Order: sequence, then structure tokens, then C-alpha cells
Amino acid sequence: MDLVYPARLSLAQLPTPLQPLQRLSDELGGEHRLWIKRDDLTGAALSGNKLRKLEFVTAAAQAAGCDTLITCGGVQSNHCRVTALVGAQLGLKVHLILRGEPDEVPDGNLLLDYLAGAVVSCYPRRQFTAELELLYQHWQEHYEKLGHKVFCIPIGASDGIGIWGYIAAAEELARDFCAAGIEHAQVVCASGSGGTQAGLTLGAALHPVPMDVWGINVCDDEAWFLNKVASDVADWQRRYSADRPAPELEIRVIDGHVGPGYGRAEAPVYQTIQRLASLEGVILDPVYTGKAFHGLLQELARGRFAGCRDIVFIHTGGIFGLFPQRGHFQLSTQQ
Ligand SMILES: Cc1ncc(COP(=O)(O)O)c(C=O)c1O
Repeated sequence: MDLVYPARLSLAQLPTPLQPLQRLSDELGGEHRLWIKRDDLTGAALSGNKLRKLEFVTAAAQAAGCDTLITCGGVQSNHCRVTALVGAQLGLKVHLILRGEPDEVPDGNLLLDYLAGAVVSCYPRRQFTAELELLYQHWQEHYEKLGHKVFCIPIGASDGIGIWGYIAAAEELARDFCAAGIEHAQVVCASGSGGTQAGLTLGAALHPVPMDVWGINVCDDEAWFLNKVASDVADWQRRYSADRPAPELEIRVIDGHVGPGYGRAEAPVYQTIQRLASLEGVILDPVYTGKAFHGLLQELARGRFAGCRDIVFIHTGGIFGLFPQRGHFQLSTQQ
């Protein structure tokens, strides 16, 4: 299909590398070729998947004449940190509405939010969940009274605008596959607000790309993500392609790996993070990529992808979320 992309700022360093996980593939017996798409290296201080989305979101904000971005997430939100950094780069004011209590000494992503000059408001979990729309409205009115024009970005920049980032990434993957001799791949990503999965799923159908896209949810459940991915795609359709028939999509969610809850993981996830770091020199985080990658390894062991040669894991970033959870690793620090 002849796809017309909307305005986009060039913020990310693209294309990101598609690397073989050779030593891990060998260790697992060689049935699959495991690959990792290094979207943790998109740039703006290792900003991961959100930078691809923000290329389109910030272009839309600038086109609308906005000078202020408001967005939201958890206290250790990667998305909020990238928005803070990109806002600084573009000279836009950034206000972050955060869920949860800030640490006494800011750590990880929160530290970077402050360094980038974002204004941060933290709310107790219950209030954040119940009143998010009101909080956006409150801060939007606050800035508008001061003469600013505000662009509100939803959680994770997952909506019809943000998913362009991963529609474009699907096109990039098609070129990666040609270069790597991949005829058909199972592509797996962590799903938190659904936009990465939505963009890849839609992009696979639009371009088209020989891949099946799977999201491993790190919060909520399969039903929530089936609905969220479909509604992000429907938002895209309404905004950009209302005069064309909606593409037929198969949305694939692998549930069962959330563990104790969002942002919390069991010991085997931390062991998988250590295993990949020591085997391949690749660092995952416990909130998103480590949990999803651990889930992928469990699914491989159960035979979900039996007979599939190429498995591509999208490394969506998140390294700064590792440091506040440093206490969970069993490190052998003896000489
Ligand atoms: C590091 C990382 N990986 C994966 C995700 C999930 O992406 P999405 O929100 O598009 O589902 C997020 C954010 O939610 C993230 O910060």
C-alpha cells in the first residue's frame, strides 16, 4: 500500500541494529535463530521505543502551535523521561503527571526528568487512576491561563498518532529481514500501553511485512490489550485513513507473565536479566523487557514457537528502571 506518513521530526537514530543472539540461540539448542532489534539504542539518552512515537507526536504538537507538553505515567515511567528529554531538546515546556510517591532522593527515570527540567506532579495511585482526566484538564487550564498552548499526550504516547512510530519500524524491520535472510519472523515485544504492538501489528499489514507480532503484557490481561491495541488502531484509522477499509488484523497477546504486578517481578526475571547480560552483553529491565523476554523464554520452552526459525525480540529500552531495583539481583561480587 502506498502509505503517506504525516509530519515527523527526526529525533531517533535509525535504523537501529538487528542483532543475532547467537550464544543464547546455541545455548537453547539451536532450533531457533533468536534476534534482538536494538530499539534501546534509538538515542536521546537510550530512550527506547517512545522516541519513535514522539517523532510523530511532537511534530503534531508543533504543527498545532503548542509550546507545552503534558503527559503521564508511573514515577519511573520511561515514556515520561523521554518526553522530558525531547521537550528540552525542542525547547518545549514539559509537565509530568506521575503515579505514586517520589523517592526521597530521585533515582532512575525520575532523576532524569528533573535533570531535563520537567515540572513533576506526583499523585497517590488511587487518585491518579480515578482522576487522570481531571488532572490533565487542571494542568492544561493552568498553563493556558499563563498564555501557553498545551498538547496532551496520553500514557505511553499510545494513540493513533504515536503508533506511526511503529508502523515505520515495521517498514524498517522488512529491510532488516532482507539483509539478514529472514523469510518470516515471530516478532515479540513487551506491551505496557499497547502502542508499540499496535503500530507493529498495523505496520505488518500495511507494508506488508512477513511477520507475526506478539505482545507479552507486563500489566493488565489479554482482554485489556486486545481492546487497547484495537482501539489505538481504530483511532489511527479515524484520523488518517477514514476513507479506506480498515485492515484485517490479528492481534496476538501472550498473557501469563505479569507476575506479582506492574513494576514488580519474581526472582527468575532478575535471573534472566543477568543471564542475557552475561551471555550477550545486552541489558534488559525488570519492568518491561526483562519480564517479556523471560516470558518469551518460557514460551519457547513450552513449544509455542515450535518449527519457527526466526524469533525477533524488540528491545524497547528501559535501562534506567533497572537501577531503582538493584537490590533484587544476586550478584557474585567476590574476586
Ligand atoms: C522500556 C519499555 N518497553 C516497553 C514498553 C511498552 O510499550 P507500549 O507502552 O507501547 O506498550 C514501555 C512503555 O510502556 C517501555 O517503557
